[in-house]
Amino acid sequence: MSSERNPLEVVLTPEQIQARVRELGQQISREMGKDTILLGILKGAFIFMGDLARAMTVPVRMDFVRLASYGADSVSCGTITMSKGPELDLKGQRVLVVEDIVDTGRTVRWLLDCLNGMGAAEVKVCSFIDKPERRELDLDIDYVGFRVPQGFLVGYGLDYNECYRHLPGVYEVKLNHQRG
Ligand code: IMP
Ligand code: MG
Repeated sequence: MSSERNPLEVVLTPEQIQARVRELGQQISREMGKDTILLGILKGAFIFMGDLARAMTVPVRMDFVRLASYGADSVSCGTITMSKGPELDLKGQRVLVVEDIVDTGRTVRWLLDCLNGMGAAEVKVCSFIDKPERRELDLDIDYVGFRVPQGFLVGYGLDYNECYRHLPGVYEVKLNHQRG
């Protein structure tokens, strides 16, 4: 990792992730059934959603939204807007929101309110990681890949300043020890 100089500590190995995502795919297939729309939140969820979709044992459709949160750097705060909306008509549909990580909970809460406004019949949430330390809202996450208590995590879609998304495992970035 030549140009990425933050020390990384392993949190989840690729093997742990693949085993858990397979379980999730099977459970979600059983419980939500066919004709569910997987709705991924870009960019963070794209790798998780790719694996989750392939772990599903029933046919699903897929779409993505892109949310922008202003006034934020490595933490999420500020105002949320949707810079790319869903392309499928979600009215009357069963939707599974696929997120990379739920931190304060504000992003997912905002999207859920928005999807209700679009007339989705049923909306559930699947987050690859639930990081409860900074939760600000009482949010029900229906499917959680892993609960990680704290830390800034990268890899498997998660980024720090757009780096590290490509890593097949999940790592904690030691931001305090960042050099030059
Ligand atoms: P929330 O609105 O605070 O729940 O923020 C969720 C968003 O913040 C996620 O979709 C990520 O884009 C980003 N985020 C929060 N924690 C982390 C982290 O540990 N690593 C990478 N991105 C994170
Ligand atoms: Mg995200």
